[in-house]
Amino acid sequence: MCGIFGYIGKREDAATIVFEGIKTLEYRGYDSWGVGCVPLTKSDTLILKKRVGKIGNEDVKDLPKSTLAFGHTRWATHGGVTEKNTHPHLDCTGTIAIIHNGIIENYDTLKKQVSGTHTFVSETDSEVATHMIEVASSAHPFIEAVRSTFLQFEGSNAIIAISQKEHMMVAARNGSPLVVGFGDHEQFIASDASGLLPYTKRIYFLEDNEMAVLTDDAIIILDAVTGKEKHITPTILTWSVTAANKNGFSTFMEKEIHEQPIVLEQCLHRSDIQSIAEAIKNARGAYLIGCGTAYYACLAGTYLFSTIAQRHINACVASEFTYQEEFINNASLVLALSQSGETMDLIDAVKRAKKHDASIASIVNVQGSTLWRLSNLPIPCMAGPEIGVASTKDMTTKIAILLMTAYDIAGHTKEGKQVMKQVLASVKNIFEKDSLNTIHAVANHFKTSTNLFVVGRGTSYPAALETALKIKEISYIHAEGLAAGELKHGAIALIEKGTPCIVFLPHDETYSANLAAAMEMKARGGYIIGISPQQQEAFDAFIEVKDAGTGTIIPNIIVGQLLAYDVTIAKNLDPDKPRNLAKSVTVK
Ligand code: AGP
Repeated sequence: MCGIFGYIGKREDAATIVFEGIKTLEYRGYDSWGVGCVPLTKSDTLILKKRVGKIGNEDVKDLPKSTLAFGHTRWATHGGVTEKNTHPHLDCTGTIAIIHNGIIENYDTLKKQVSGTHTFVSETDSEVATHMIEVASSAHPFIEAVRSTFLQFEGSNAIIAISQKEHMMVAARNGSPLVVGFGDHEQFIASDASGLLPYTKRIYFLEDNEMAVLTDDAIIILDAVTGKEKHITPTILTWSVTAANKNGFSTFMEKEIHEQPIVLEQCLHRSDIQSIAEAIKNARGAYLIGCGTAYYACLAGTYLFSTIAQRHINACVASEFTYQEEFINNASLVLALSQSGETMDLIDAVKRAKKHDASIASIVNVQGSTLWRLSNLPIPCMAGPEIGVASTKDMTTKIAILLMTAYDIAGHTKEGKQVMKQVLASVKNIFEKDSLNTIHAVANHFKTSTNLFVVGRGTSYPAALETALKIKEISYIHAEGLAAGELKHGAIALIEKGTPCIVFLPHDETYSANLAAAMEMKARGGYIIGISPQQQEAFDAFIEVKDAGTGTIIPNIIVGQLLAYDVTIAKNLDPDKPRNLAKSVTVK
């Protein structure tokens, strides 16, 4: 959702640093943006630049030299997409400015307390914060003014305020993510760690109800409730700077898809599989939860655990987990899957499970994130930064981890590694030139379609759901993923001449029944795209995926990602920034 980036320190191009910072957060989704800075030259007020729409070719060369600045990409909630509603928001004196993520649920009540004497220029909930800080700072130091204001907010929020007079930036969070970066005589703050990589790897994720005070030379962390200083240990990011670049690819999504052979290979050398296996074995009732693509990884996990380890694990969409929580107790294990570790529905579900004393294990890509910190057993996904809105390498890595865990539980760790080697061979084959060309041609074939179906059984069912999600979220083609057996219970009514129907047909126990589904769709005029180790008469188009035993879901999903990517490019759309979507969904 909204993105935040702030800088204070020795450099005089703070506005440009911040502008470049918010550009790295563009993938989170936004509809307007703004930068505010304290000018080095004498000025009575902070200087702001705000624009509606995407950053595109804009710059901030017109902003003055500065050593203190912050910027924001806004995703409109309260108030339309206008310049007035864009952050930063100034107080009446023009010397205090704020940017805000989240929703101040009681803003109406708070606004009534200050509106008589203060002029509001926007329709946002956020603006009330700047006037409240203005009132409080007439009697208290700036830090205290921000703290007392923040403590009156209801809802999930992250706020950063700048004081021109006291030359500092003060931040507080409850719910919405914030991470600070420690530099050499310069300090940073952002809503996401990847934007900090070019400057520092020493970071700290603020906990709920923590504040950060950023000055030229230091960052002090405070408990927002007591106002007392807290001693924290920064985390050192292991990601490389280039990992957050496009590295010669035209989009982040393309790069991230192509990184999968390497990232998956690294899974073979993991030493933490046993700890997840032990946690599952020791639990009485285990639940896999996640949202969107991460949920489909959970669903894949249920098949893998049941067939490989003969263990039943429940999978549940995190936002629905609340309605099943009566079954959770101190012997339960909740295994939460997430790329960002900040998805609000998931964080909420985990917090509720903790109230029932459940143990929380997680597989999370962003180390140090909220989910990471809430977990008794956080396992790093280690897929490297994933910037494209569509989740790709994070998901396949998670499935690889679950696959190897299932083998470990079954006492067949070596066999698990053998299967992973088959997976790698099959995945490498997909990235051969001929295979990529075939996928490209198939995607081109359905670029004008408005409707398509993806079917599979067993682990090919979550692969079908995931492929459909990938296609719809970036190419805007309506795609429905379903269990092949469900076709005849309704969806087949929609198949007509030429409807693209993607069928996953691996050589496993689902083969005959899946083939029957392909024939049923073909009989209704469907254009059958078979993803399988071998050609079939029923196929109008064929993409070869070599079998990888129980791990075939991984190469199958990668073909689904490539189809979605290629059709999106063929339609001249930007896969990294699909409309209406954010990389990390930090609101409910
Ligand atoms: C995936 O392509 C989506 N953009 C989305 O479904 C995503 O997987 C979901 O929002 C969960 O995010 P998380 O993994 O960061 O928790």
